[in-house]
Amino acid sequence: MNGRPLSGCTAIVTGASSGIGLATANLFCDSGARVHAVARRKEAMEKGAGEERLATGRLIPHALDVSDREGVEALVAETGGRERIDLLVLAAGTNVPDRSLEKLSPEDWERILSVNLCGAFYFLKAALPHLRTSRGQAILIGSVSGFWPDASGPAYQASKAGMAALARAAGIEEHARGVRFSSVLPGIVDTPLLDDRPAPPPREVRERALRPRDVARACLFLATLPEHVCVPEMTILPAGLQALGKTGAATPQLPPEEEDA
Ligand SMILES: NC(=O)c1ccc[n+]([C@@H]2O[C@H](COP(=O)([O-])OP(=O)(O)OC[C@H]3O[C@@H](n4cnc5c(N)ncnc54)[C@H](OP(=O)(O)O)[C@@H]3O)[C@@H](O)[C@H]2O)c1
Repeated sequence: MNGRPLSGCTAIVTGASSGIGLATANLFCDSGARVHAVARRKEAMEKGAGEERLATGRLIPHALDVSDREGVEALVAETGGRERIDLLVLAAGTNVPDRSLEKLSPEDWERILSVNLCGAFYFLKAALPHLRTSRGQAILIGSVSGFWPDASGPAYQASKAGMAALARAAGIEEHARGVRFSSVLPGIVDTPLLDDRPAPPPREVRERALRPRDVARACLFLATLPEHVCVPEMTILPAGLQALGKTGAATPQLPPEEEDA
């Protein structure tokens, strides 16, 4: 033991090739956890983790599409068969430029829901027996746009509202068994996801946005709480840019680029 807060823990972190998931995988690894990193792009995960973390053997990248249910089940079964799973951070997410109800295609609706919402469900469902054994915890990266309308589009907002409902429902069923579910609800975070907006935000907005590491630190805070403490939902906003009730483009006084993703 080296006294690091997540020493001895195993975490699965999705979306670990970029942005919030990558920052969380790295921070958890640096905090002593063994991290199974999940995304489709293995090289991007390896590059993001860096040689040093990979060399420790405590950050293990897995190339997987989270909407592949059987693939998710196989990964969780294999990991859980070898070691205890203490933490699950579900940060894989997507959006499309043609996101308005008028422009959104049924195919994009299905893809956004399959990645953001179904992917989260597949991981939670597969990991539940393992989380019960470890009295572990799942952290879902939702969004303020699941609660406050903005210009991130109906599919994205439906997926994020669905993730919050999924976490709430799971929490009420599982709390007595010691499994905790937390939704982290960020406002705008400067990640490549912003490049998929119909009009990517200008530099001035990106500079005032949250950094991926800010959200990773929120995840570490949740992951290191004592077992008897649960924070079901945590909203995290860039102070100079957004406030509760002023989280998106639907608020008249905000320019359109202030949607969350
Ligand atoms: N950026 C924001 O303003 C913001 C605000 C609130 C909430 N969020 C949420 O935060 C989460 C992380 O987003 P981010 O901003 O960090 O975006 P990002 O930098 O674009 O990262 C998205 C991650 O999701 C992974 N991913 C996408 N589709 C996937 C799939 N089918 N299977 C597996 N992995 C997949 C990507 O990896 P691969 O491409 O390698 O598969 C990547 O690692 C998302 O759920 C997003 O909705 C973001």
